Amino acid sequence: LNNGLALTPPMGWLTWERYRCITDCKKYPDECISEALIKRTADLMVSEGYLAAGTTTSASTTAGWRRNEDLMIHSKGLKFGLYEDYGNLTCAGYPGVLGNEQLDIDTFVEWGVDYIKLDGCYVDEAQMDEGYPAYGKMLNQTGRPILYSCSWPAYQEDYNVKKKHIFTPDYESISRHCNLWRNWGDIDDSWSSMKEIMTWFGDNQDRFAHFAGPGNWNDPDMLLIGNFGLSVDQARVQMAVWSVLAAPLLMSTDLANMRDEFKEILLNKDIIAVNQDPMGKQGLRVFKNNQTKISVWNRQLHDGSNALAFVSEREDGSPRSYSFSFSQMQLPQNSYRVQDLYHLEDDRILKSMEDFEVRINPTGCKYYKFTIIPSDESDEEQKTVEN
Ligand code: DGJ
Repeated sequence: LNNGLALTPPMGWLTWERYRCITDCKKYPDECISEALIKRTADLMVSEGYLAAGTTTSASTTAGWRRNEDLMIHSKGLKFGLYEDYGNLTCAGYPGVLGNEQLDIDTFVEWGVDYIKLDGCYVDEAQMDEGYPAYGKMLNQTGRPILYSCSWPAYQEDYNVKKKHIFTPDYESISRHCNLWRNWGDIDDSWSSMKEIMTWFGDNQDRFAHFAGPGNWNDPDMLLIGNFGLSVDQARVQMAVWSVLAAPLLMSTDLANMRDEFKEILLNKDIIAVNQDPMGKQGLRVFKNNQTKISVWNRQLHDGSNALAFVSEREDGSPRSYSFSFSQMQLPQNSYRVQDLYHLEDDRILKSMEDFEVRINPTGCKYYKFTIIPSDESDEEQKTVEN
């Protein structure tokens, strides 16, 4: 959507994956969806460095709750996001916008809302191709810049699977009318859920990856990092693959109780820079081997370099080494300086025609940036590394 917003993928925080619809604040004072939770999170987004790292987008709430947090959030330099549903009810059974679209939009504008996630429960999939653009037009007519996140294709993709291709999402239209769009099912706090989403994105990438770009992003759903279900290695996989996919980086976790190793992943500047690359070209899964359970994900960056994630889905054994040819990595033949974006290995030089060797932990990844070394410099570089 060409509304001047989301020129790079939005970075923010949402309640849903971690907090669901917990409303009993007597019993669960630290976890219930409440002003206190939003305030605590907004404070931590600033004090723990998430805002400085680029998480400017929102202290945003999803499902079951809405109220005005405008002043508090904006005064911290953050943006304010809200969840709604285009049906008469939200998925969790709270009132949706249907029948009150204009009244609700006027209220959102009065509240200073910067970001709307419009869900699609209780909406006829056939109606979405017109309904989502119509709602976006109403948002646009308010004159307030409001980022528009649509769940439109996620419901149609699901319908496709269940009813055999009746409403195939029109990603061209979706990308013209929405800043981001959920393509597939909800993420849950587990490696298996995350893996299923990654696999679906890789298997279906040819239908939608090319619609990503400044203002338009495919959304594989929230980051699980910091919660209970992912190991540190698995959390590194999510951050790596989501950055290759130019995905919105929407955390859904308790920022007050974040283990350092997860915080380090979320605040990794080099990986955020890949995610926020100004060219905005979504990367692709360029290699997959069902026997070894290894996949390679490659994203081209604006400065001519490439970010490559090597992911292992093996759940057995110990770290293993794998070799990749240039064609398997879909990398043009050149000499490259290779930098580990997780800073666990020293820089390496890869010469053209050589294979690239990677050692990967079970259900883990390695994530590198490959920068071309002009041919006249490559001998010099090699000497420097050897010394
Ligand atoms: C379905 C969406 O896909 C989720 O992200 C979340 O917003 C829930 N609805 C809320 O009920």
